[in-house]
Amino acid sequence: MADLSVNYMGLKLKSPIILGSSTMSKTTENMKAAENEGAGAIILKSLFEEELRQGDAGYGDSFHPEAYEYIMKDALMVYGTKGYTEIIEKTKNTVQIPVIASINCMGGKWWAGFAKDIESAGADAVELNIAYVPFSIKDDPRDVEQRYIDTVRAVKAQVKIPVAVKIGPNFTSIPYMASKLKEAGADSLTLFNRYYQMAIDTDTLKLKPVHYYSTENETYNVLRWVSVITSQLGINVSSSTGVHSSSAVLQHILAGASAVQMVSEVYKNGFGRISAVLEEVDQWLELRKKSSLAEIRGLASKKNAGEHMGFERTQYMKIAEAMLVQ
Ligand SMILES: Cc1cc2nc3c(=O)[nH]c(=O)nc-3n(C[C@H](O)[C@H](O)[C@H](O)COP(=O)(O)O)c2cc1C
Repeated sequence: MADLSVNYMGLKLKSPIILGSSTMSKTTENMKAAENEGAGAIILKSLFEEELRQGDAGYGDSFHPEAYEYIMKDALMVYGTKGYTEIIEKTKNTVQIPVIASINCMGGKWWAGFAKDIESAGADAVELNIAYVPFSIKDDPRDVEQRYIDTVRAVKAQVKIPVAVKIGPNFTSIPYMASKLKEAGADSLTLFNRYYQMAIDTDTLKLKPVHYYSTENETYNVLRWVSVITSQLGINVSSSTGVHSSSAVLQHILAGASAVQMVSEVYKNGFGRISAVLEEVDQWLELRKKSSLAEIRGLASKKNAGEHMGFERTQYMKIAEAMLVQ
């Protein structure tokens, strides 16, 4: 059997598959199941910033009060802050693999201090899911980016454990943003957060969420940026979105990812998928006489370094041409 262990922001993981943050990582039974199937680490369900704001009269500085009421009513707010640190402690007592806490936040001041409590509770690392999406025409991109950078700095000033930063795919320049987050102290980047998609109910005209789960097709956008970023920036990356198979795991590692996160696939087909995918990864390595996953990390990015723009332009031109002649 090949050595499937990986080094992820200083943590030694026995395998590259991390159970990503979701409602699955809310119960210790599920986390034990993920460990038994070979997961290298687990990321707890996020504590939402709004939960930390409860009782703080100053919330209006970045939320319209009605929007805040709406969020509080509709979002699944399941923990208090004490409950969250208790979950960390309980999980640490249940599994041997690293436990990564998660905060879903929109800006700095509310919860940076809480990161310290997370550390004291025994979390091996923290993933900041910075989910500020600019919905207003007044949102200046520079301010939005600065919000991300300040958030990372604020947390890094509080904790010694590694800090991963989970971002969405919508920046004017993803590589530039990645380099700024690294400068601010991020130990790893999680590419990418998958925002809920919404549809309009044509009878009621109300918004409704659709496509809770990803498909494998969605992983190729992530793959491009994993490759572009890891080939230019010495930072760990874990790939999130659309990782459903051993082929996707291998492609992300070949592109330069240190680890991958799985959520939708496990939701849909159970924890057994983790061990099944790992077995196929092992077979792939053995067939090619590779003794470890570390041997192949980033190989494809090195081979294709600097070619993304040219490759994508050419492919685009070819496709556009093909469509014209049809
Ligand atoms: C039901 C559900 C709950 C989720 N909850 C969280 C969460 O609390 N925090 C977070 O950072 N991501 C959350 N996510 C996003 C996942 O961690 C992941 O980034 C996304 O599902 C894409 O990965 P996938 O293609 O493997 O599903 C959630 C996803 C699902 C489907």
